[in-house]
Order: sequence, then structure tokens, then C-alpha cells
Amino acid sequence: MAINYRKAAIVGCGFVGASIAFRFLQQGLFSHLVLIDANREKAEGEAMDLSDGLPYGASMEITAGTYDDIAECGLVVVTAGVNQKPGETRLQLIERNAAIMRSILAEITARSFEGILLIVSNPVDVLTYVARELSGYPRHRVIGSGTVLDTARLKQLLGEELAVDSRNVHAFIVGEHGDSELAVWSGANVSGLDLDDFCRLRGQELHDPGRERIYREIRDSADEIIKRKGATYYGIAMAVGRIAECIVKDEHAVLPISVVLEGEYGLDRVALSIPSIVGKNGLEKILEIPLGETEREALNSSAGQLREVITGLNL
Ligand SMILES: NC(=O)c1ccc[n+]([C@@H]2O[C@H](COP(=O)([O-])OP(=O)(O)OC[C@H]3O[C@@H](n4cnc5c(N)ncnc54)[C@H](O)[C@@H]3O)[C@@H](O)[C@H]2O)c1
Repeated sequence: MAINYRKAAIVGCGFVGASIAFRFLQQGLFSHLVLIDANREKAEGEAMDLSDGLPYGASMEITAGTYDDIAECGLVVVTAGVNQKPGETRLQLIERNAAIMRSILAEITARSFEGILLIVSNPVDVLTYVARELSGYPRHRVIGSGTVLDTARLKQLLGEELAVDSRNVHAFIVGEHGDSELAVWSGANVSGLDLDDFCRLRGQELHDPGRERIYREIRDSADEIIKRKGATYYGIAMAVGRIAECIVKDEHAVLPISVVLEGEYGLDRVALSIPSIVGKNGLEKILEIPLGETEREALNSSAGQLREVITGLNL
């Protein structure tokens, strides 16, 4: 079946799935959005509510559907799962969410779906790897939202700290979307100016303690939000909207999505976030960016922790 790049589906219509649907409606990226949830009434309710906004949004169709509707989709976003409880790490979610992912993949692979599978459910890196393994799809078609959100947080916090537009800040969080993630300070820059040079020109300093404070704030951000309101969804919806836009518009943009590594950085049998070129075919190219020695060690350690969890799943 021919791929319809203007048709997408979201599997899982909870806080995250519904917020992504709302973002897609605002973006006008798709002409048809299908909502699928184990709780059919929830999907129907969200489709009805979102459709009420169509006259003030994009021209599109939003329907509650079944897996039979995904065959021609260019993009399927998976957000189904159980949510992180206060104090629970993302990795502790794995057993519960891996079982859900298995059941969803059985449905998807039973259809002739040839589009991009974008995993958002946590722990997103482990589930991206699970999805790739169980689907057997080529790796460019199975990607995770990874640290696209964390990287937005880094840009935002650095922009605030340096009193500069966060859109001019170029820096990445890589590795696990979770506790072992790392900031690549060695490559951070503001409009091409090395971070240290920019700080000097700005008459400011950002030494290690300041960097560590920013890093911790990013790493702990989801926990802090969950403590206060029980879940996170707007930030991730914006991040997924951006990834979808890169795919639909074939932008060849660089985003730190979660990808299955096959020897890049000397790593394999793991998925984690690495700046990658994203376009119509999903993952176009994993970029092996220069890393400092401690950054490389931290990336290896992050990969090791994720691989241990993956191995424990006996896929
Ligand atoms: N990657 C990220 O940055 C990020 C950010 C926030 C949340 N998340 C993750 O997204 C996931 C969803 O979070 P939420 O707040 O929307 O949770 P939620 O509980 O509000 O929604 C989950 C939805 O999934 C549905 N569901 C469960 N099993 C299903 C199945 N087998 N098939 C179809 N639908 C199924 C449920 O009915 C529910 O509507 C969680 O795993 C959460 O940790 C990821």
C-alpha cells in the first residue's frame, strides 16, 4: 500500500497522546489523524473534543480508529503505557511498558504499515530498542523521541542563564532520556560562538558548578513536574510535534532522537539519543559528533546501563 505522509496515528490517548494530537491540530501537518487507545471511549472522546477545534485550526479529519487504519500512515506515534509514579525511575517502568509495547507491535506488524514508528512511551530508549527488535523494521523507520525534550530544556535554561534567545543556543543532551543522560558542553555554542567565548563577550561566567546546576535541573525536571502535577505532557508534545514536522516536511534537520546504534561511537545492541539527521525516511544519518574524554565515558556508561536493562528483557 502506498504511504500517505499526510496521515498519522497516535496509539495511546492519555495525557501525552492527547497533547500530541492537540499539537498536530495546531501545526496542520496532517490531513487525517487516527487516535487508537485500549480504552476506545477515551479515543472517541479525544477525537470529538479535538474536532470541535477544527474550524479554528487546520483543515483535517480526526477520528478514533483501529489498527486497520494505520496501514497507509506515514507516521505512527506510540505513547501508550503506564505513567511514572512519583519517585519511580523510568527504567522501573520497563516491565509494565514492554508488555504493552509487545501487544501493540503485534497489531502493527500484522498490517502492511511502511511508515515511521515514533516511540514516546517510557523508558523511551529501551522501548525504541524493543520496537526495532520485535518489528524487524529497518532501523531508520523506528526512532524514539529521546532527548529532543531534554535538549529543549538545556537550550531554554542556557538561554535564560546567558540572557540570550534560546533559539540561538546550540547544545545537546545525549544518551539515555533519563538519569544517565549527559550534556555535551564541549560542543555547546551560541550562534557559532563557543560557549566560553560567548560568556566572555557577555561579561559572564559559566563554570563547572553552574553547568552542573543546569544539568541537574534538566535531568530532574520530569520528576519535579510529576511531583507537582502528576504527569508531563506539554513539553513532550512540542518535541514530538517538531520531530513530526521534520519527517513530514523532509527537513533533514538535526535532532537528538533515540536511535539503535550499530557500531557508531563503538556501541551496539542499544538505543539512545544521538544528534541525527531526520527527514521523510525517519533516521537519515547518525552524527558521530566530537566528544570530550569524560563525555565519551559518560556516554559509554549510559549505554551500559541501558544495555543491561535490555539484556534483562530476553527479547
Ligand atoms: N518520552 C518522553 O519524553 C515522555 C514524556 C512524558 C511521558 N512519557 C511517557 O508516555 C507514556 C504515556 O504517558 P501519559 O501521561 O499519557 O499516560 P496516561 O496514563 O495518561 O495514558 C496512557 C494511555 O495509554 C493507553 N493504553 C494502555 N495500554 C494500551 C494498549 N495496549 N494499547 C493502546 N493504548 C493503551 C491507556 O488507555 C491510556 O489512555 C508513559 O510511558 C510516560 O512515561 C514520555
